[in-house]
Amino acid sequence: MLLIQLGLLPALLCASVARAGDLTFHIDTVIGILEDLELSLKDTPNLTVTELFQELEYCGSEKCKFSLDPMTSLLLDLPFLSHEQKTFLSHSLKERGMVLTPDGTTVSLHPLLSGIASGFNKPLEGPWPATDLETDPSNSSHLQPQPPLDSLLPATIATDLALSFLLFHTKQRQRALGPNGCWDNLSAPKVFTLMGPPSHVPDPFINGAMDGLILGNYLAEKADLSLNISALLRDYYGDEGVEGGKRFRSNFRRKNFAAVVSEAKLREEVECSLHLLHQQNETASLFENMTREEVSLLARQAAEEFLALYVECPAIIPRCMWGARPYKGTPTQLKLPLHFVYVHHTSSPSEPCRTFSACAADMRSMQRFHQDIRGWDDIGYSFVIGDDGYVYQGRGWHWVGAHTLGYNSRGYGIGFIGNYMKALPDAYDLELLKKNFLQCAVKGSKLHANYTIHGHRQMVLTTSCPGDRLFEEIKTWKDFKMRCFMDNGVYRCV
Ligand SMILES: *[C@@H]1O[C@H](CO)[C@@H](O)[C@H](O)[C@H]1NC(C)=O
Ligand SMILES: *[C@@H]1O[C@H](CO)[C@@H](O)[C@H](O)[C@H]1NC(C)=O
Ligand SMILES: *[C@@H]1O[C@H](CO)[C@@H](O)[C@H](O)[C@H]1NC(C)=O
Ligand SMILES: *[C@@H]1O[C@H](CO)[C@@H](O)[C@H](O)[C@H]1NC(C)=O
Ligand SMILES: *[C@@H]1O[C@H](CO)[C@@H](O)[C@H](O)[C@H]1NC(C)=O
Ligand SMILES: *[C@@H]1O[C@H](CO)[C@@H](O)[C@H](O)[C@H]1NC(C)=O
Ligand SMILES: *[C@@H]1O[C@H](CO)[C@@H](O)[C@H](O)[C@H]1NC(C)=O
Repeated sequence: MLLIQLGLLPALLCASVARAGDLTFHIDTVIGILEDLELSLKDTPNLTVTELFQELEYCGSEKCKFSLDPMTSLLLDLPFLSHEQKTFLSHSLKERGMVLTPDGTTVSLHPLLSGIASGFNKPLEGPWPATDLETDPSNSSHLQPQPPLDSLLPATIATDLALSFLLFHTKQRQRALGPNGCWDNLSAPKVFTLMGPPSHVPDPFINGAMDGLILGNYLAEKADLSLNISALLRDYYGDEGVEGGKRFRSNFRRKNFAAVVSEAKLREEVECSLHLLHQQNETASLFENMTREEVSLLARQAAEEFLALYVECPAIIPRCMWGARPYKGTPTQLKLPLHFVYVHHTSSPSEPCRTFSACAADMRSMQRFHQDIRGWDDIGYSFVIGDDGYVYQGRGWHWVGAHTLGYNSRGYGIGFIGNYMKALPDAYDLELLKKNFLQCAVKGSKLHANYTIHGHRQMVLTTSCPGDRLFEEIKTWKDFKMRCFMDNGVYRCV
């Protein structure tokens, strides 16, 4: 139906300044196309970008899930897009098509745009079955318009999470979640390579799904169909955040996702999706011999593992994304799980970094300093915490670091970027270590459940690291311990 309407649109070719064939897989390209769409559609009598998105909402009706991709064919018919833009769309809107964002992470467009489309809160087409298949079919309460999350969760994450765990359960995929990956070139990204065998939901899909859910939820609350989507995306993927909300931007998607989705709700929606997949011819055979209890168990497992890995754990920016040089020589493997965490401040750089580009530059300069001036094999820290919402991978989980002389193989060295003699890191960044990182490390068997936190200065008495103020802070943490030892015949505790 929409295709016919589009055929009637006046030729709007002038609206899109043809850009040279330099479109790269960056969110700016997508935002640019949306801007052109919005400008071109502004003066059309009865087709708005909102309606366009609603037409594109293919996830709302499950039957579209396995048919031809309507989004691609639809957009490719728009007369006012340039050849380059169409080429870009036909590549990037394909299933699993993904783009780099300024925060240093990568998002798939499908779940992102589905979430936005769903957020406009078009009433769902068909009856959306209740979770319990034995629900009396004559009871039509489940046909009522759904609150936003009930359509947002399936459109963004729940259906694919269900399918992913099903494929893993039936041994058709080696993993149920992830992995992350890296681009060939950050200024002109063209090729994205996953760091391992793919699940049905690699990290970029999950990022896009979370953003789709967060933005869809925002749009549903605003209920303003004339909202400028390109401007919304620019704010969300920019440094300032939506409506100036410092934390309402893509860097903080994990916390923002957690704020709207409970584990119970996610489990319920995944279970509902599993029942839908059971009814689909294409996926019914995957349920062979599965009992209802096993389906419920799979939904529980999916919700728990997803939330543990993608909400409780902090997002870690891998070495290939911040532009790390290779390790010099051969790294020594740590023997896991470790028993200690040593807290550091970087001191230099002395100011916290608030964007990916600033934090990545800090990481590169620390690595250069440690390799070229100190003569170490690599950046010393195991992990580094930026003030942009992210943890940066230094030597990582498996390689012995060079952070705490004499103790490098016993614990992880975690550095906060900045100087914390007089001031504290942002409360958010402290929480990222204290709660998210440490719990995640224990769950992932990287840290012993009974680990101990020390400040660098307790191990190496000549340093003031991690700074007076930060040291006072970590002393209040429950896993902090004093260190006591004999010093020239005197028993000392620091
Ligand atoms: C959307 O917002 C951007 C930035 O504020 C502006 O340049 C653009 O013209 C707006 N588009 C429409 C259709 O209003
Ligand atoms: C758009 O306009 C055409 C003709 O002006 C009309 O036939 C059609 O029903 C309209 N579509 C919508 C969705 O309003
Ligand atoms: C219909 O289903 C809803 C939710 O499952 C339930 O709360 C309600 O009591 C049911 N109504 C009837 C008439 O069975
Ligand atoms: C990345 O792409 C840009 C633009 O094409 C180019 O100038 C630059 O040299 C590339 N960088 C690397 C590391 O290949
Ligand atoms: C699903 O399979 C059944 C039985 O093979 C068939 O009758 C039905 O038409 C199929 N439905 C679809 C949508 O392909
Ligand atoms: C399901 O059960 C039947 C009968 O026990 C068996 O022949 C079949 O191999 C099972 N299928 C799978 C996928 O385990
Ligand atoms: C935890 O570690 C402390 C010393 O660091 C030790 O005294 C205690 O027994 C340990 N507890 C367990 C359960 O391993």
